[in-house]
Amino acid sequence: MNAGATTLRRIGWIGAGRMGCAMAERLAQGGADVTVWNRTRAKAEALTKSGARVADRLTELADCDIVFCMVSTWDDVREVVAGPSGLLSGSGNVPRIVVECSSISLESSSELRTLLAGRGVELLAAPVSGNAKAIKAGRLSFVCSGPKAAFDAALPYLGMIAPAAIYVGEGELARIVKICHNVFLGVVTQSLAEITVLAQKAGVPRHAFLEFMNQSVMGSTFSRYKTPAFVNLDFKVTFTPQLLRKDLDLGLDAGRRYEVPMPLASITRDIVQTLIGNGMDDEDFAKLLVLQAQAAGLELEPEDVPVGDGLG
Ligand SMILES: NC(=O)c1ccc[n+]([C@@H]2O[C@H](COP(=O)([O-])OP(=O)(O)OC[C@H]3O[C@@H](n4cnc5c(N)ncnc54)[C@H](OP(=O)(O)O)[C@@H]3O)[C@@H](O)[C@H]2O)c1
Repeated sequence: MNAGATTLRRIGWIGAGRMGCAMAERLAQGGADVTVWNRTRAKAEALTKSGARVADRLTELADCDIVFCMVSTWDDVREVVAGPSGLLSGSGNVPRIVVECSSISLESSSELRTLLAGRGVELLAAPVSGNAKAIKAGRLSFVCSGPKAAFDAALPYLGMIAPAAIYVGEGELARIVKICHNVFLGVVTQSLAEITVLAQKAGVPRHAFLEFMNQSVMGSTFSRYKTPAFVNLDFKVTFTPQLLRKDLDLGLDAGRRYEVPMPLASITRDIVQTLIGNGMDDEDFAKLLVLQAQAAGLELEPEDVPVGDGLG
């Protein structure tokens, strides 16, 4: 589809939280015709300066061609799509396609597909990798599954939000890819916290240790973008411990369903639970570093060293 045709489609957007707001902003800035609904209206209003419109009711999005959804959990997805005042609650039009981006289970996604199919709506499962800062830096990626035609129709809009949209097949396959990804996120973050505390206790400043790691073969986009938090203890939320626990639980549930032992995921889930239980859940999940330091009898101080996040 060419850019001119792209702007002809009406896009609805449900959920203007940390992720949804940054994603919808890119879509609106890219010239798409976007109408946003958010439970807390003020967050959606912030998007009007990028050219988006704000809807008062979810049913106002029902005559859009494509509706994106980015909320928290499956209960929330079900509420906004099929709840008493949800997207499908009117008796008139329905969108052709729903692109559902929240991190939810395979079973939930399948239930959503059935609910939508009952009204003739196609579902593209399209969870993402990257936080709001990665979105702004143009580094988000989608993993998608569902009807290939729905993927092709949504692709121009996915492309405005993220440079990568990988189609992995029919049905709910994208969900298991995302679940695996976030299990890895949790395990890697805990491991990075352990080795950073170990290096510091042995006398290495965190910024020097992480600079080496980032430039080594083990360095990654992720280790680079968590470095400012680890060095200067800036724990402004990018992703909450509760949402990470949800994803580790989804991973463990999938492990049970497919009979795959997940020992590292299991212990990491309980460490994240300990973080939450200790009241350290009001900030970013990178606070796993602080929990680890406490367990090692180390009091952390910000190093106040300017370090990049690799996102430009
Ligand atoms: N943050 C990340 O780095 C990241 C990365 C990849 C994927 N994810 C996934 O993306 C999803 C969103 O994460 P986030 O960090 O953007 O979360 P967030 O900042 O907490 O935003 C959650 C959004 O969902 C809405 N919401 C929640 N429950 C709702 C309900 N019952 N009815 C209507 N709206 C509801 C919230 O509305 P209000 O504004 O009214 O509260 C808000 O717009 C989650 O599934 C998460 O696992 C997050």
